[in-house]
Amino acid sequence: MFERILIVDDESASRIPLATLLRREGYEVRDVGEGGAALTECASFRPDLILLDVMMPGVDGLEVCRRIKATPETRLTPVVLITGLSATEDRIKGINSGADDFLSKPIDFNELLARTRSLLRLKQYTDELESAEGVLFSLAQSIEARDPYTSGHCERLAEVSSRLGQKLGLPEEEIKALRRAGIVHDIGKVVVPDAILLKPGPLSAVETEVMRKHPVVGERICAPLRTFGLVLPIIRHHHERHDGSGYPDGLRGDEIPLTAAILQLADVYDALTTDRPYRKASSPEFALQIMDEEATRGWWDRNLFDDFRAMIGSGHLASHRFGKVAR
Ligand SMILES: [Fe+2]
Repeated sequence: MFERILIVDDESASRIPLATLLRREGYEVRDVGEGGAALTECASFRPDLILLDVMMPGVDGLEVCRRIKATPETRLTPVVLITGLSATEDRIKGINSGADDFLSKPIDFNELLARTRSLLRLKQYTDELESAEGVLFSLAQSIEARDPYTSGHCERLAEVSSRLGQKLGLPEEEIKALRRAGIVHDIGKVVVPDAILLKPGPLSAVETEVMRKHPVVGERICAPLRTFGLVLPIIRHHHERHDGSGYPDGLRGDEIPLTAAILQLADVYDALTTDRPYRKASSPEFALQIMDEEATRGWWDRNLFDDFRAMIGSGHLASHRFGKVAR
C-alpha cells in the first residue's frame, strides 16, 4: 500500500512541483489550495503525512493544524508546517498549534524527502501503538542523530536514574518509567531547529522560549502510548527546580514528581561531564561540586542530591562517566 501525503498550499506554483516530486518517489499524493478543503480531505483521504503552508487566505495553516490535532482520528497524523524565512516566531505559534516538524521556504527537496521518510516511519510506529519499544527506539535515534554531543546520553540517563530509583526503593513501575523517560525525555527537541539546538553560545530570549517548549512537546508526543502513564510527568517536569525557578510549570519542592527530580540530577550531571559545543567536559568531582553549589542555591532537593552524590561516589559509578557502568 502506498503511503498517502496531503499537500496544502494556496500557491499552485509551489504545490504542484511538490506533488509531482512526491508522486515520483512513489507516494500517493493529493493537493488542495485552501484550509477548508484540507480538513475535508483529511477525513476522506486519511493521509499519513500532511505538508501544510502556514500563510493561506481563509482558514490558515495554524488553524488547520490545530483542528487536525484536536480531532481524535487525525491527531497522530504528522503535520509539517511550511513557514517563511523569519521562522522563529512562526515556529512558536506552530508548536502551540501542535505541528510535528517545520520546513522553510524555499523548500529544499532533499531535506523534504528526508523529513518525509522519517516522519512516515514514525507514523508507521504510532500506527502500531502497541509496539512501544519500537517507538522508543525510533524517537531515541532521531534525537541522537541530530546532536553529536548527546551521543549515548539517553542510555546513560536511563541507566543512572533507574539505579538511583532502585537505591531509593521506588516501586518497579517507577523504575521502568525512569528507564523509558531516560530515553525519550528530550524527544520534544524535534521541534527545536538545529540553529538553536547546536548554538555554540548563550540563547536569545526568543530562542530560549523555543527551547523551553521541549518538555511539553515531548509529553504530547508520548501521550498516546498507553504504557507511558508514569513516564509523562517525568518528561514534562524534568526541568523544574526545587525553588520553583524551573519550567514549564514552575513547580517547587514536593510538587515536583520524585522521578522527574531523579532524572534531572542524572541529566545535569551527564551534561556537565560531557563535551558541549561551547565548553569541555568537567571531571566527575568538579561536576558534583557545581551541583552541590546549585543545591545550596535551592535548585535541587538537598537530600536527594546527597543520595545521588553518594551513589556516584560509591565506586561503581565514580570511575569516569556513566557510560562505563551502563553495560
Ligand atoms: Fe530536556
